[in-house]
Amino acid sequence: MRMVDIIQKKRDKEELTKEEIEFFVKGYTDGSIPDYQASALLMSIYFNDMTDDEKATLTMTMLNSGDKVDLSSIKGIKVDKHSTGGVGDKTSLPLAPIVATVGIPVPMISGRGLGHTGGTLDKLEAIPGFKVEISEEEFINQVSNIGLAIIGATGNIAPADKNIYALRDVTSTVDSIPLIAGSIMSKKIASGTDALVLDVKTGSGAFMKSEEKAKELANALVKIGKSVGMNCMAVISDMNQPLGNTVGNTLEIEETIEILKGHGPKDITELVTVLASQMIVLGEKAESLDEAKEMVNQVISNGKALEKFKQMIEAQGGDSRVIEDYTLMPHAKYKIELPSLESGEIQVITADEIGIASMLLGGGRQSKDDTIDYGVGIELHKKVGDQVSEGESLLTIYSNSEYIDEIKDLLRQNIKIGESSTPKELIHDVIQ
Ligand code: URA
Repeated sequence: MRMVDIIQKKRDKEELTKEEIEFFVKGYTDGSIPDYQASALLMSIYFNDMTDDEKATLTMTMLNSGDKVDLSSIKGIKVDKHSTGGVGDKTSLPLAPIVATVGIPVPMISGRGLGHTGGTLDKLEAIPGFKVEISEEEFINQVSNIGLAIIGATGNIAPADKNIYALRDVTSTVDSIPLIAGSIMSKKIASGTDALVLDVKTGSGAFMKSEEKAKELANALVKIGKSVGMNCMAVISDMNQPLGNTVGNTLEIEETIEILKGHGPKDITELVTVLASQMIVLGEKAESLDEAKEMVNQVISNGKALEKFKQMIEAQGGDSRVIEDYTLMPHAKYKIELPSLESGEIQVITADEIGIASMLLGGGRQSKDDTIDYGVGIELHKKVGDQVSEGESLLTIYSNSEYIDEIKDLLRQNIKIGESSTPKELIHDVIQ
């Protein structure tokens, strides 16, 4: 078999065989296929798509490039959630303890942020001492004992994805439905969960900018999951403006704790409730979404979900006193307000650019090896649809430098104020 023939076939819109897909994935992982040929194939896939069979084969081949976590010793239906990534999206952090409190084991393997999107693991590391790299045995024991753990990928999960993802990142082939589907589902199937709720984002801060593409991706993800017997569903949610009021690591942990105390912002609290309810139904602890929603409200109002979050922090070596004392987490030296130059209604807060501003402050990575400044970030005081008066603060910038004029300009350019607005629905669709 020759790589050049496989590239030509996909370039000419033909369907690849299982053997051809395996040849590519194995060859690229072991280094026998060079970057230039792999790039050509990725770009052909980007333009010409893949059939359902090709997507399933790509997923299974990437999955089989590494190990699978065996969670069978944990009792009950294990349910995880995966988001396609966003700005201010700290949903996993309150969600996992809520669902675990209801009695569903949540073994969550999460990622780090790159570019404008934040990562759950980076946020957790704002808590002093919190360890996200623990052994598979410790992970399984923790989920068995307290019902949840949020960790980074252990050992050798889908190593083919690591190489292919890094190449996609530099060849502008990240936002391809078959490639995203293969990447996400190979890792999720390898993580050993029984059921999965997918949060597929749509809008300016998402990989899938249009709702149509987000639905196509959601359908592809759900279909692959079901083909291997995983109980899967997807929610399409809005990512045109940041989720919640904060972007930045310490700030997002503070907001998580506020959500678990019942004082969280409306949008993120709603999304957490919707996703948690779906997980509770998949985990068979409630028969209807209404019943599940009641359970979510109850474990927030009686403080049990917050207590579960505290248990997780302690189990993973973190200082759980942060729950009552936010000053124990890293904070930025300067708090700088951005006053509005006009009066009116907020029409747009472009999510990806707000994410980039937070990254430029040091809260995210421009390249894989950058270190994170946990204390920096942005706190929005206004969301789309809110009224603002001239001179009133739109947001607070948390920075370790006073010289941030470019970042202020970037933020200003990406907040549009006018006479009226049409805020987008938070939940666009549900795909069963
Ligand atoms: N998240 C992933 O894990 N992979 C992708 O390709 C995109 C988002």
